[in-house]
Amino acid sequence: PALQRHHTFALDVPCQTLVTITDPAQLREFDYTQAFCVLGEGSNTIFTTPYQGTVILIANKGVRIEELSQSWLLHCAAGENWHALVENTLALNMPGLENLALIPGNLGAAPVQNIGAYGVELAQFVDYVEGYHIARGETQRLSNEQCRFGYRDSVFKHELKGQFIITQVGLRLPKQWQPNLSYGPLQQLESPIPRQVFDEVVAVRQAKLPDPKVLANCGSFFKNPILPRPQVAALKEQYPQLPCYDVDAEQQKVAAGWLIEQAGLKGFHIGDIAVHDKQALVLVNRGAGRAEELLEMIKHIQSVVAQRFGIDLEHEVRLMGELQEIHLGATHE
Ligand code: EPU
Repeated sequence: PALQRHHTFALDVPCQTLVTITDPAQLREFDYTQAFCVLGEGSNTIFTTPYQGTVILIANKGVRIEELSQSWLLHCAAGENWHALVENTLALNMPGLENLALIPGNLGAAPVQNIGAYGVELAQFVDYVEGYHIARGETQRLSNEQCRFGYRDSVFKHELKGQFIITQVGLRLPKQWQPNLSYGPLQQLESPIPRQVFDEVVAVRQAKLPDPKVLANCGSFFKNPILPRPQVAALKEQYPQLPCYDVDAEQQKVAAGWLIEQAGLKGFHIGDIAVHDKQALVLVNRGAGRAEELLEMIKHIQSVVAQRFGIDLEHEVRLMGELQEIHLGATHE
């Protein structure tokens, strides 16, 4: 089967087998000794070569709302579309998710990289993540703490990688709504209602980030690097404009998109693979992009940024090889 319409970067490669899960009970029937790759809408995964295993599409549906005294607890199937969930909760007067509007993909993929935007991360709302634990052969529910969320990170990228298939997520939305207006363009909003925050987030995203249905992409391609403060201070001396954000007492995060733009790569292309001209952290496939070109592009960006700034960029997007995930660059485990 063809994978092109199952991953939003839309490279034209096939896989050996494709199965769609509409009921989590189906997950008990697999032979997990063979290569497999779990996929939602494929908005953070790129198949770079024909995949010699089974792609498992998670497509179960359903949301059950439980009212608690201080909050709403939403029990949501992993196959629910993220943005539709954001819109539906807002329409039901259960705000909280509006800063995360328009993030592509399914709910089940969201905890894996702890999706985040405009000062808010999914982790703030996760009550539990439920899934099929392969080695144990049973359903397991993890608490927020057990998910060990970090910046674009969770236990699902480490100990539970390839071990746990997310089938349901419990989201807790406090009834007491607190807008998060920390991000630049949101600061101008005065005592907004949730819908205004939502509209502003949608406007900002649409101005910078290409719609994957129109121009194939996977959002931010690299993570914003987290560096020791002295290193950031030294860079700031040379490049006073470098955008950076506090992480903790020792570390700061710097804007990878800025580094790539300053390195002169905005709009740079190799064949149909290009650095997006409105946001340099995004790579796009203009149509007929090929995997070899993408891999060359990644290495080129990493090497130019390393030479110019002494920083190793780590790709945030998951790249699949013939049988398993592949990692490009210097700084990977
Ligand atoms: N910048 C440039 N040139 C560029 C791109 C960015 O100078 O080409 C500068 C911007 O002017 C700004 C700073 O870099 O001062 C940060 O840019 P932006 O606010 O666009 O956000 P980002 O750091 O590039 C991150 C997330 C996005 C998220 C936004 C908003 C990561 C890897 N990406 O991007 O998430 O929407 O912040 O919160 O953390 C994604 O993960 O796919 C994603 C889109």
